[in-house]
Amino acid sequence: MGRLVIVSNRVPDPRERNQPAGGLAVGLADALRDEPSTLWFGWSGHKSEAGEGDPEPQLETYGKVTYATVPLTPAQHYGYYQRFSNAILWPLCHYRLGLMNYCRKDWQEYLEVNRMFARQLKPLLKPGDVIWVQDYHLFPLGQELRNLGVNVPIGFFLHIPFPPWSLFRALPPATALLHDMQAYDLIGVQTDEDAGNLRENLKAAGYNHPARVVACPIGIDPIKFGETAANAYEGEPIQRLRGSLHDEPLIIGVDRLDYSKGLEERFLGYERLLTRYPEHHRHVTYLQVTPVSRGEVEEYRQLRRQLDETVGRINGAFAASDWTPIRYLTRPVPREVLAGFYRLADVGLVTPLRDGMNLVAKEYVAAQDPQDPGVLVLSRLAGAAPELSQALLVNPHDADDIAEALHRALTMTREERQQRWTGLNTEVCSTTAETWSRDFLHALHSSRREATA
Ligand code: ADP
Ligand code: F6P
Repeated sequence: MGRLVIVSNRVPDPRERNQPAGGLAVGLADALRDEPSTLWFGWSGHKSEAGEGDPEPQLETYGKVTYATVPLTPAQHYGYYQRFSNAILWPLCHYRLGLMNYCRKDWQEYLEVNRMFARQLKPLLKPGDVIWVQDYHLFPLGQELRNLGVNVPIGFFLHIPFPPWSLFRALPPATALLHDMQAYDLIGVQTDEDAGNLRENLKAAGYNHPARVVACPIGIDPIKFGETAANAYEGEPIQRLRGSLHDEPLIIGVDRLDYSKGLEERFLGYERLLTRYPEHHRHVTYLQVTPVSRGEVEEYRQLRRQLDETVGRINGAFAASDWTPIRYLTRPVPREVLAGFYRLADVGLVTPLRDGMNLVAKEYVAAQDPQDPGVLVLSRLAGAAPELSQALLVNPHDADDIAEALHRALTMTREERQQRWTGLNTEVCSTTAETWSRDFLHALHSSRREATA
């Protein structure tokens, strides 16, 4: 097999200990560990004013991975990243048509940046390379590379949901995007539901022989994450948190500050727990770790203000002089500390309104002590729900459903917790970051062979 070339908008900084929160970078970093040699191309994470022509990619090699990154101009960052990717495609693909705020100029900027990425990547390619493009920022990239004469296998993976045609067609350039996706030898999505939707979209856009679509769920490295959690557990940050709880139960939530994560609805579900089951007052603590994400996009700024208000209101209404019902952090936390927090928590609360997969749910399972595991409360609308059916599944829009599941989790016998966790852990260990990339790349090779036979 040739060299693997990953292309994604967000590229982790290998020198930084604290990677940006987000499933793409975490899943890929785990998946690449065993690849012999990889080129990872994408945005540098920096903005710089336009100079003469395209910016030169900056190359840096760490271990087996060479990172090639380019900056964006402020105008490109605005039109391509903030607007078309995150104020148009993101809400639409998360079934939030009402939040989609379309402007044709942003579509043009999105196409321009995809073209610029293709021009920058092409000279770095070698014969025998296999290109794997990641996520919704780069739907047209495969076609732009083909336009430049690139003829190696190109696969695409979508980390977020893909909606039905009845929704996606509301996007003015829907057909143009679906046309560009035909350039890929294989398109991977997270779930069977997404695969069905994408096939339906491709057919509706008039493709009688649409590009091959496979459902290939992403995972984590559960063994490594479990070890990280067990080691971190004895460390100072976890023991400090533990000491502050005085042997009382802890519920944990860990998400980027994003409206798709259902944070407002989750807080209301927790409030309903406190209203309906007063026996938990002064006992349970809910720790929500939520680093600010996409803070330049207006919807995200509004959400932040709303969450601040909701947390303040609930704490104000229920707190006692020696008890704060919700502890709310808007900073990123080092990954190993997060792993230790998960292990300490009696309940993992993961209630997105829609989510491509949700790696936090899998991390929570992998971090548990098998002798005394916690309980996962999971949204039925997360991509992870079909695999993690042994969790307590809830409708994230229903505060009573969340409250009942939390009460059940907080009062569950150790025997039932162990039995549920065993089933969950089997799933988390059978679909990992490694099986995800191996299965996708294997299918990409077969798909290419069939096409050229
Ligand atoms: P998304 O890709 O939409 O952000 P996922 O749940 O799939 O959602 O992935 C989120 C990843 O980001 C997980 O690996 C999680 O551990 C990490 N993460 C989330 N919140 C934080 C945080 N506060 N600090 C550090 N990492 C975080
Ligand atoms: O997994 C979905 C995703 O959008 C990734 O593509 C992205 O890297 C991550 O969430 C975090 O978002 P952002 O890169 O905009 O900070």
